[in-house]
Amino acid sequence: MTRLGIVLSGRGSNFLAIADQIEQGRVPAEIAVVISNRPGAAGLAAARERGFTALSLPSRGMDREEYDRRLEAALREHEVDWVILAGYLRILSAGFIRAFPQRILNIHPSLLPAFPGLDAQHQAFAYGVKVAGCTVHFVDEELDHGPIVLQAAVAVEDGDSAETLAGRILTEEHRIYSEALRRLFTRPWRIEERRVVLGQ
Ligand code: GRF
Repeated sequence: MTRLGIVLSGRGSNFLAIADQIEQGRVPAEIAVVISNRPGAAGLAAARERGFTALSLPSRGMDREEYDRRLEAALREHEVDWVILAGYLRILSAGFIRAFPQRILNIHPSLLPAFPGLDAQHQAFAYGVKVAGCTVHFVDEELDHGPIVLQAAVAVEDGDSAETLAGRILTEEHRIYSEALRRLFTRPWRIEERRVVLGQ
């Protein structure tokens, strides 16, 4: 069974959505460990409550390379096959990314390459886009940049605020992150240049 290491910093709703889909038999994987760089993350408490192995690995004040070596060691200790970033608010070092080639995924709340970085939903709303959305992508050495696995579009309505829009995007995030895992774990796939080619 494919072993996942979930890495998060915050509330953990994407992690919980994935955990639910695994439990319901829709994603053939198991969560080996949940790691947070923020000790107070709600996602970490939720992981403990649900009985997952959950580690607090505080990053505050630590050198990036040194932190990432510790993070890698913790993931290896739990024999993780895939690293699943779920609201991890820290940039990964090149060394970490190279340690798990084509095995790190992230979800970003915009239709990349539009609006990388923080507060993507607010950026999109303020820009006045009519279609927003979210992206599951492989992680490479540039921020919010690697090959795209799945995207979902969300229409912006006249009555929306950045918050209502973010809420509808989040619902789609919860759907496509598990869907991306299911597809990657159940059918052949390959990466050609930047294109992720998913099997039929
Ligand atoms: C999500 O919007 C995700 O796209 C972004 O960070 C947020 C994490 O939310 N990378 P949660 O912690 O999964 O609830």
